[in-house]
Amino acid sequence: MERMSIGGTSGYTDLAALPPLVADAVRLAADLGFDKSCRPEQGRLLHALAAGAPQSIGETGTGCGVGLAWLAGGRRDGVHIVSVERDGRLVDHVRRLFADVPDVEIVHGDWTSAYAHGPFDLLVLDGGGNAKGGGAADPVRLLHPGGVLVVDDFTPATKWPPTHSGRPDEARLHWLRHPELAAIEVRLAPDLASVVATRRW
Ligand SMILES: C[S@@+](CC[C@H](N)C(=O)[O-])C[C@H]1O[C@@H](n2cnc3c(N)ncnc32)[C@H](O)[C@@H]1O
Repeated sequence: MERMSIGGTSGYTDLAALPPLVADAVRLAADLGFDKSCRPEQGRLLHALAAGAPQSIGETGTGCGVGLAWLAGGRRDGVHIVSVERDGRLVDHVRRLFADVPDVEIVHGDWTSAYAHGPFDLLVLDGGGNAKGGGAADPVRLLHPGGVLVVDDFTPATKWPPTHSGRPDEARLHWLRHPELAAIEVRLAPDLASVVATRRW
């Protein structure tokens, strides 16, 4: 059994049990010392949601392509994925990793480049645009009506309002209270939650 332990990837303890492309992306993250990959719980959520996207998926923050690999594995054939990453070194590596995977486009730039490629059926905000700093993406411009938004990496809330560093968690509240979205926090592990939201018609 091949084992990995690197930051957000520490849950990927058995690479042989993973879809091969996910395992390759985890290996890339380990090789580059990149510790911010999405955890397997989040990856499985992306895999499941990707299966429901009719035509297009967007992601901000490609990282080493771990979440992207879960998305690619879950989607229907022909569904186009655009992932935006500002770090050119990561872009080069991930483009090589996905060279033989059809309908995956890795854009080098700020997350706002996603506006030129949307709207999407599924949008994952994992590197810019997530309201945690550096702006909040506009779901009306980036999602089709009925489209689904995912924002990762929250500590599960135990009270209302949710807090972050002792204060109301404004990023989480931005999405949970967004007038154009019907949103819910989904607990994926005792220490991990995501916000999942549908754009209202
Ligand atoms: C949490 S990691 C992404 C992990 C990846 N989505 C996965 O599932 O493994 C965040 C990534 O977002 C990128 N990033 C941060 N701010 C960004 C911005 N403003 N525009 C584009 N990418 C950004 C970082 O370089 C980093 O690679």
